[in-house]
Amino acid sequence: MAPAPKGRQGLAKAATAVATPISDIEIVGEPRHSTGMGEFDRVLGGGVVPGSVMLIGGDPGIGKTTLLLQALPLLAESGEQVLYVSGEESPRQIKMRGERLGIGGKHLLILGETSLEHILKAIQEIKPAAVVVDSIQTVYTEQLTSAPGSISQVQEVAGQLMWFAKRNNVPVFIIGHVTKEGAIAGPRLLEHIVDTVLYFEGDKSHSFRILRAVKNRFGSTNEIGVFEMKDGGLEEVSNPSELFLAERPQRSTGSVVVSSLEGTRPILVELQALVSGTNYPMPKRMANGVEANRLSLLLAVMEKRLGMHLSGQDVYVNVVGGIHIDEPAIDLGIVAAVTSSLRECPIDFTTLVMGEVGLGGEVRAISQAELRIREAAKMGFKRCLLPERNVAKLDPVEGIELVGIREVGDALDAVLV
Ligand code: TYD
Ligand code: MG
Repeated sequence: MAPAPKGRQGLAKAATAVATPISDIEIVGEPRHSTGMGEFDRVLGGGVVPGSVMLIGGDPGIGKTTLLLQALPLLAESGEQVLYVSGEESPRQIKMRGERLGIGGKHLLILGETSLEHILKAIQEIKPAAVVVDSIQTVYTEQLTSAPGSISQVQEVAGQLMWFAKRNNVPVFIIGHVTKEGAIAGPRLLEHIVDTVLYFEGDKSHSFRILRAVKNRFGSTNEIGVFEMKDGGLEEVSNPSELFLAERPQRSTGSVVVSSLEGTRPILVELQALVSGTNYPMPKRMANGVEANRLSLLLAVMEKRLGMHLSGQDVYVNVVGGIHIDEPAIDLGIVAAVTSSLRECPIDFTTLVMGEVGLGGEVRAISQAELRIREAAKMGFKRCLLPERNVAKLDPVEGIELVGIREVGDALDAVLV
């Protein structure tokens, strides 16, 4: 064999490779397989891509096993088999769950195993159409002496599964638990290895669950899927706004409805604030579902620009339903809710509030205003407070009055009843 060219010579040789005009490159559409759940497919970017490795992370007990037990059997076409590897629960336990979910049949194989070598051997024999590994923290490779769940084990096992998936063109779902402490050897560690990273979120005291993509080589990362955990498993929620607003109180102070754009869908959610005199030397600030830093910033704007005295007050903000919003369009809603609670003055029930708030107290334009307003009109809202800049560019929407806002102070005058 000729020795490998070295240095400049090598470079010169490589330079003879043919570059293709971008217009001549063919895009081969990835065939995708449906999980049978529109909400799941949406988050994946339109279904499962063969050979892709998808990591599903989430708190223990949130519903990861349930989600994949429901989706996996649907990935088998007639004559094919799918494999669920469970290192967490025994096959008998999985069967009991399956019965509860109405899942069974010969095409769904369950393997109770934690040795990666045994798992790969079983996969070679079965040749399944799709594989689930539940969970990455329980599986170990005999090549390493460290304990299952340790950093090196988790990375090595994921790397080998990735290699297997690409080589055999089989999709692999890896389940990983997230721990509150930031996951020593959890999903975070694997984000750069796998193709797609999904997080399953939700408040365990509520039944809503949200599936969110934080990385996706085969689709957008904006989309979310909304589910409800019921007795018979996860059900898709096709109209999330309706669900999130179902229990909204009529005339309660500190409650406001805001719009959060999740991918292509605007979702209306209730945001609540509670302001009460503090008993602590340092007043408490608690944000659930919104960024704590964003809340601090907005409170500072309210002190400085609106002259409100919040330094003697505890402030709690909560997004109902366990959903997290990190969109500046909810700023104005936070300010309105906090003021409503502080002044003990409810916010008009049929008004939607949206707008980004700048440090000068100015209300800045938001994206996709029209889409959000249409959703609000559909949900029966009569009035919408939004940045003046947005109003100027919008055509009227039937059934909903648009109120343009320039400064935070103006919004409060318009919305508190
Ligand atoms: P699970 O899928 O085991 O969570 P994870 O794999 O993320 O740890 O879900 C566990 C919770 O879901 C458990 O508290 C019971 C509840 N659940 C239902 O409410 N309905 C169902 O049909 C199933 C299977 C579980
Ligand atoms: Mg589980």
